[in-house]
Amino acid sequence: MSGLIPRHFIDDILVRIDIVELINSHIPLKKTGSNYTALCPFHNEKSPSFTVNCKKQFFHCFGCGVGGNAISFLMDYLHLEFVEAIEELAAFVGVDVLREPSNSSYIPSVKPDNLKALYELLEMVARFYAKQLKSNTEAQKAIEYLKLRGLTGYVARDFLLGYAADSWNELSKVFDKKLLLEAGLLTQKDGRSYDRFRGRLMFPIRDKRGRILAFGARVLDDSLPKYLNSPETIVFSKGNEVYGLYELLQKNSKPERILIVEGYMDVIALAQFGIYYAVATLGTATSKKLLEVLFRYSSELVLCFDGDKAGEKAAWRAVETAMPVLKDGRQIKIMLLPQGEDPDSLIREEGLEFFLKRIISTQALSNYFFEYLAKSLDLTTMEGRSYLVTIAKPHLQQLPEGIFKRMMEDQLQKLSELSEQQLLESLENSKKLATLKTNKDRRSKGGNKIARSTIALLLQNPRLAEILVKKIPHWEKIEFPGLSVLKNILRTVIHYKPANMGVLIECYRGTNEEKMINKLAAYELELSTTPKDVIEKMFTDGMNNLIKQAKKSLLNDLLFKENNNSLNKEEKQTLIKMLK
Ligand code: UTP
Ligand code: MN
Repeated sequence: MSGLIPRHFIDDILVRIDIVELINSHIPLKKTGSNYTALCPFHNEKSPSFTVNCKKQFFHCFGCGVGGNAISFLMDYLHLEFVEAIEELAAFVGVDVLREPSNSSYIPSVKPDNLKALYELLEMVARFYAKQLKSNTEAQKAIEYLKLRGLTGYVARDFLLGYAADSWNELSKVFDKKLLLEAGLLTQKDGRSYDRFRGRLMFPIRDKRGRILAFGARVLDDSLPKYLNSPETIVFSKGNEVYGLYELLQKNSKPERILIVEGYMDVIALAQFGIYYAVATLGTATSKKLLEVLFRYSSELVLCFDGDKAGEKAAWRAVETAMPVLKDGRQIKIMLLPQGEDPDSLIREEGLEFFLKRIISTQALSNYFFEYLAKSLDLTTMEGRSYLVTIAKPHLQQLPEGIFKRMMEDQLQKLSELSEQQLLESLENSKKLATLKTNKDRRSKGGNKIARSTIALLLQNPRLAEILVKKIPHWEKIEFPGLSVLKNILRTVIHYKPANMGVLIECYRGTNEEKMINKLAAYELELSTTPKDVIEKMFTDGMNNLIKQAKKSLLNDLLFKENNNSLNKEEKQTLIKMLK
């Protein structure tokens, strides 16, 4: 099971697979011209804008903008992790996943057969507990407790709530003891084993596919510990799971937002009120990995925290954790609840409508970030403002490259320059400023059409790189200000020789360039009937044009600096060379 999947295996599968066939096995495609189309499975639409291109081995929706290769499709469509998508693809072409021998000393102790038995046992135990809740006379007090907390039979069913009787060997009477031990359902003392959970309300913890991994268990009174949880087992690692994700996906696989709360009871109470899009961390801090997982289902995550000191601390820790995952298009909001309340108590007190209003008006992470830092500083003094820059900078550096990062940097710049009055206004207005900025960015982005189509040509026809090497052998030495992406792709194509675009864009998964590359991959060139030599000419013309452009803008820069007497030695030499 363990061990990395070698790169060449992934490439090999991407070459073997036909993305048209793969997608067609999930959504029926229709041939239209050189593309295949369908109604987009990722957003609601009436006429098809989802297209699949066989030559590019790429899918793209003109409506909602999703796109990528076969791996991306499976990750998005079936909500799979990267490795799971590879496994699925391998199964589709009928090969076993190749894995490199793992370096770590960890040797998996379970065979796949055993793992299956474990999942089956956990499922049966959960059903057993659920049945006990209904039929065991002792469970009456658990039912009373659920009623007391305002929960109906429907949510109890959806979350498969159960009851563990107050007995030492209820489970081992029915199930295999060895498996029970492996599943963490027994505890051992003096060489004997006992049921771990006794006289408690049971909350099965499921993974996103609905398999039961573990349990949380609550007492019915004020005794301690309030909750007991399954220990870490072969199938359960609590830092990697959230409570309620499967139940959420059952209701809606693409929710507009996901609420991240702290307790089992919060998730269930929210569902009781019709808020089906909450999940709970399992007594751990929100990890980067968890955020990444949840962002696959929704582009907006709302993190809820208690309004006390501990909650505020946890919120700031979450903000720090979240920075590296905040790519453009993703949003995190920070919701601080009134002191002493949790979502469960609050929604009961205020009702659904007020709670929804709270969610809608929750502040964005960007606001929270500056407010939190500014709170402890006196920004009317130069010292305070410079300190703000000092402490904010390292966090902003964690952000992925993109518009959001630039906006945050601009905001910091502004805050460090302003007077007190302006400062207050600026905090208020940061939202408005943000939208203005995006518009401006969009406009300037429209600018370089030649660059865009030349890079897209190369990306979509990797073989063009060979022609470039022949016609412009010194391309690597040419400086391309602002065209680092083109050079980057050229380097990749020349050294990597990808068989098609699907393989090429795979090289960029998870990198800063990923988003831009995917956009260019989708760029419509309408070249299906254009002869090969014409495409080649278009490309070399484009390249020559870009080189000319680049030279011109460099020259302009240098001349401008010359006028201001601000050329350094190196620049002076470049200028002299260029003027020759
Ligand atoms: P809370 O004490 O806020 O739990 O702990 P809650 O869900 O609001 O429960 P109620 O409303 O009192 O019934 C939040 C989470 O911390 C973990 C559990 O995951 C819980 O849901 N926890 C808490 C434990 O694991 N053990 C404990 O003893 C307490
Ligand atoms: Mn609670």
